[in-house]
Amino acid sequence: MGSIPKSIGVLSSGGDAPGMNAAIRAVVRTAISAGCKVYGVQKGYHGLINDLVNEMDSHSVVDIIHRGGTILKTARSEEFQTESGFKQALSTIEKHKIDGLVVIGGDGSFRGAARLAQAGVPTIGVPATIDNDVNSTERAIGFDTAVNTVIDAINKIRDTATSHERTYVVEVMGRNSGFIALYAGVAGGADQILIPERPIELETVCEKVVLGQQRGRSRSIIVVAEGFHPAKLNSAWVPGNAGLSIGNYIGYKTGLDTRVTTLGHLQRGGNPTALDRILASRFGYRAAQLLISGVSGKVVGLEQNQIAVIDIEKALTCKKSIDDELYQMANVIAAI
Ligand code: F6P
Repeated sequence: MGSIPKSIGVLSSGGDAPGMNAAIRAVVRTAISAGCKVYGVQKGYHGLINDLVNEMDSHSVVDIIHRGGTILKTARSEEFQTESGFKQALSTIEKHKIDGLVVIGGDGSFRGAARLAQAGVPTIGVPATIDNDVNSTERAIGFDTAVNTVIDAINKIRDTATSHERTYVVEVMGRNSGFIALYAGVAGGADQILIPERPIELETVCEKVVLGQQRGRSRSIIVVAEGFHPAKLNSAWVPGNAGLSIGNYIGYKTGLDTRVTTLGHLQRGGNPTALDRILASRFGYRAAQLLISGVSGKVVGLEQNQIAVIDIEKALTCKKSIDDELYQMANVIAAI
């Protein structure tokens, strides 16, 4: 517990996620209704270093709950990790007499928040990343919207894959984690789901496609997370190009007509779903309340549909693991 803030700052950092705006709105309105001043920091930690700070009022967050992206803009700041960048950020905080900060983002952003908290700046983290790889929460802001975007794409790809009897590899985001691939793959009825947490051999992927064909499945849909790599690397593997590597290998090994779709950054945009808007509002509300009551060095999260409050250091200690039961289920029910 630190001193009670009279003015708080809010920033978004790292990759944007649909629902960040709803979180900003909740933070601003909660703080104002408690009689605090609120400052919006533009472009994440970069904005703290470069004094991109503006006071916000209730009106600053009108008409944003439904919008993707973040009105505060976001950035990945390497300078913040340097001594001079960090000091500069502290002096901006001091200049505006910001007594506490809500940081909306993923693990990278929370590492910055933890450092600020250690330096005496009260901070609360709000998990927002489409990758859903923040350990402090069952679900991060943006994940549900991204999954629904991918499902929509799979539905469309399924139409053309079925018509042409082709094999499709759909590459989705997830640099280090397979949450989007697993959830969208299950909900989209993918025939195979390939994730970084469960490397398998490319041979096995091909065998499953061929087996499916032999059993009467004339098309295949394989969802792969961008961070997947095969259990055994071979010369066909191009690092950083999971979808293309797999698609080329399947085409070459099986002779089947194969296409690759990389969904890329479109997964990060779009109007947030109801689930994301509500989650973001709940997180933002709670984060502001915590700061105002003098709590620091914590991250909010979702635990059995309740808002949990976790030590930021603890949230950063281990990698969030994939739901093995869901992965096993996907393998069983995808098989023909
Ligand atoms: O926000 C996380 C993420 O979406 C990853 O899945 C992806 O690899 C990365 O961001 C892309 O980042 P950038 O926008 O910097 O290319």
